[in-house]
Amino acid sequence: MTDLQTASDPYMLDINGTNIPAEATLLRERGPLVPVVLPGGIRAWAITTPTLLKELFADERVSKDTYRHWPAFINGEIPLDWPLIAWVSVRNMFTAHGADHTRLRKLISPAFTGRRVTALRPRIEQIVTELLDELAAHPDEMVVDLREEYAAQVPLRVITALMGVPEDLAPGLRVCVDEIFSTAPQRDPQENFAELVGMLSMLVSRRRGEPGEDMTSRLIDHRDGGDRLSEEELVHTLLLVISAGYETTVNLLDHAIHTVVTRRGLLARLRAGTAGWRHLIEATLRDRPPVANLPLRYATVDMHVAGQHVSAGDPFIAAIAAANQQLNPSGPVSDEFDPSRPAVEHLSFGYGPHYCLGAALARLEAAIALPALFDRFPDLGLAVDPAALATLDSFISQGHQQLPVHLTRTPALRDER
Ligand code: HEM
Repeated sequence: MTDLQTASDPYMLDINGTNIPAEATLLRERGPLVPVVLPGGIRAWAITTPTLLKELFADERVSKDTYRHWPAFINGEIPLDWPLIAWVSVRNMFTAHGADHTRLRKLISPAFTGRRVTALRPRIEQIVTELLDELAAHPDEMVVDLREEYAAQVPLRVITALMGVPEDLAPGLRVCVDEIFSTAPQRDPQENFAELVGMLSMLVSRRRGEPGEDMTSRLIDHRDGGDRLSEEELVHTLLLVISAGYETTVNLLDHAIHTVVTRRGLLARLRAGTAGWRHLIEATLRDRPPVANLPLRYATVDMHVAGQHVSAGDPFIAAIAAANQQLNPSGPVSDEFDPSRPAVEHLSFGYGPHYCLGAALARLEAAIALPALFDRFPDLGLAVDPAALATLDSFISQGHQQLPVHLTRTPALRDER
């Protein structure tokens, strides 16, 4: 966010994600459809209200297919080292429209039904217990980065288990996925993408040689059993599942833990049952959406939207953080956790045909991981001033770079939480 922007200029999104909630408020104040500038000077329209977001996400004239509906990309005007290149150039359900989207989504949606996700509970509980044991093995008084050692590890281990990723591939995959979610990346985006695809191709060849009960092996069956899935679509679908499955849930856990440790008395209420973990999870999703701004959709025809002329080919970015602010009954900019309001509405998992396939899995992971963490470490507290926590370098991914905590507290450190 830059202070020097005037309301008549297109809004330049802060690639460093310094204060996403404040930026969301500024966007909202500019109206439901705001001209914005993405990295590289690319113009887009930010959708900032829940009503318009739902309307456009359900509108067949609005597509996610970059290869058919974004002329700037088709004409080669988008450089391959553009920081958001992976978001628009993948070939999987995320960038598919209409019948193609249905075909690609159908291949993995059976893995995410309520029944299949519920069946993962024992595995998730086992992963959580292992991680808590690893944390408990640290010396007392050690400052632990809980984002790295817990918030990231829960979804990472769950998704790699689900996909049958061998242990030696997981760390490398993770580095590349982190880079995709950064809007101020440290590495060349094109090289990063190529490396990620290379590792996932290696995963495919290993599972081809040694199939298992995992999602990768099942997708290979679809690919090899007919022509419904190209090799590129197979690899890029794995890329989607690993990145969507990990990078988002880490932010949910990060912010939910942050909420508990920074709200006096909240943990006591959660443990006494006068506040609910599920409510905390939904309120966290609303107030700190893990995907704060979601790239990209395209107008396939000229459209009149919220009083503005949108030309065919214009891109939209969904300002989910801004839209969610309007859904907060405690006031648009409040992030106070109010347990007296159990129903929480938000758009953090999207809306319409592309609605998040992993929503039930993310909620289950959080519902297991959060109470288990605070049961094991009821005195857990931040080891730094909350104001000192740095945010991720991203306007897409909303989280902290680190969450340094004391797992146990000496009497001197103990407060009245
Ligand atoms: C808190 C955690 C999560 C958040 C906030 C989140 C958010 C989202 C959002 C906003 C979309 C919509 C994209 C669009 O409309 O363009 C989406 C799609 C998707 N998500 Fe999630 N997600 C989360 C967890 C997961 C998990 C755990 C998985 C899988 C293991 C997953 C897999 C997917 C997939 C495959 C899609 C694409 C669906 C499509 O294009 O049809 N997500 N997610």
